[in-house]
Amino acid sequence: MDIQKFKQDFPLLQKGIKGKPVVYFDNACQTLRPLSVIEAVNQYYREYPACAGRSVHKLGELVTKKCDEARKLVADFIGAKRREEIIFTRNTTEGINLVAHSLGLKAGDVVITTDKEHNSNLVPWQRLAQKIGIIHKIVPSKKDNTFDLEAFTEMVDEKVKLVSMVLTSNLDGVTIPALEIIKITHRHGGKVLLDAAQAIPHQQINVRKLDVDFLAFSGHKMLGPSGTGVLYGKYKLLEELEPFMVGGDTVEYSTYKDHKFLPLPEKFEAGLQNYAGIIGLGAAVKYLDKIGLENIAKQEKKLNRFVTKEIEKLPNTTIIGPSDPALRGGIVSFYVKGVDPHQIALILDESSNIMIRSGQHCVHSWFHAHNIQASARVSFYFYNTLEEVEMFITNLQRTVKLLT
Ligand SMILES: Cc1ncc(COP(=O)(O)O)c(C=O)c1O
Repeated sequence: MDIQKFKQDFPLLQKGIKGKPVVYFDNACQTLRPLSVIEAVNQYYREYPACAGRSVHKLGELVTKKCDEARKLVADFIGAKRREEIIFTRNTTEGINLVAHSLGLKAGDVVITTDKEHNSNLVPWQRLAQKIGIIHKIVPSKKDNTFDLEAFTEMVDEKVKLVSMVLTSNLDGVTIPALEIIKITHRHGGKVLLDAAQAIPHQQINVRKLDVDFLAFSGHKMLGPSGTGVLYGKYKLLEELEPFMVGGDTVEYSTYKDHKFLPLPEKFEAGLQNYAGIIGLGAAVKYLDKIGLENIAKQEKKLNRFVTKEIEKLPNTTIIGPSDPALRGGIVSFYVKGVDPHQIALILDESSNIMIRSGQHCVHSWFHAHNIQASARVSFYFYNTLEEVEMFITNLQRTVKLLT
């Protein structure tokens, strides 16, 4: 893969900030966007800023066609059987909430998560436990923070209605054995929802091969515009679900007394949609197809191997998760005893435009349970290079020395 060539597609990597290069290692939050995505969004606003599915004029027809194309691109990207199985959302969080509020869970139904869920896949279940009495169970990870399949297997029974788990963790980059988890859950009659926010941008996922029931992810973590997301669901299951947000564009007609819902996907896409975002997401998928997800994973693994080796040399430093970087995708989360990770992030940014994340990464529950204050997190994407990692390491060594 010619990284330098791909880098040219990213204006921020070309121009930097006030002429000074930017090293962007906060890709788990949002990735940068290539010109083709920026152009697709701009083109919508410049040339056909109308509504899809409502107006019969030329502009309306064009938006409808472009959104349809984007839906097909996303469906093909994840191996969905039908484009109607793709529901556009604002983000992963909305997709998970849609399932949580539409599945018709009742008191006593069991939902299982891991012990390191993003708040987006934790709080919805806690709320349902508090409001209607579902039972939320948590599978403890192994000592090295990898998934404990044995503990999970023992936990699953016929009361489990849903297993809702983070496929790749934004805390430490670990991916769970989804295929086995899905098989075991299905054997007991439960459904599986995967939070694929950190998985979809980095690895090939085929929903049909996995046989997963629902899959939620965000466009902004895979080169797409901010505030875009997708909920995939098996057609039959989505058909049976009650939409949790209703109103304009979800119904075929209404009377003063009643209404009739539109078929999929419209019944879940209430109100005027983020058309520019949806079209931009289609452009992002095209771009990712061009690069190839296996090339992305390869580059991230190479960088992770290198950065892990260097971080391990720092005094009093711990990397969260397994020691083998091959098990942590493109994420390295670490903390240095006695050093505030926010200080590290601020100094790296101010001194050298190196952008990393610091804090609890919306996985507060894990940090509380482990009595760890916070971590610094580096998350790579394919446009990051070994030279950037070397620059990061040099600056990190200097910063840690300064702060200890
Ligand atoms: C694993 C994981 N799940 C869910 C989310 C929530 O994504 P969004 O804010 O796009 O809804 C994130 C965001 O960082 C994430 O990393």
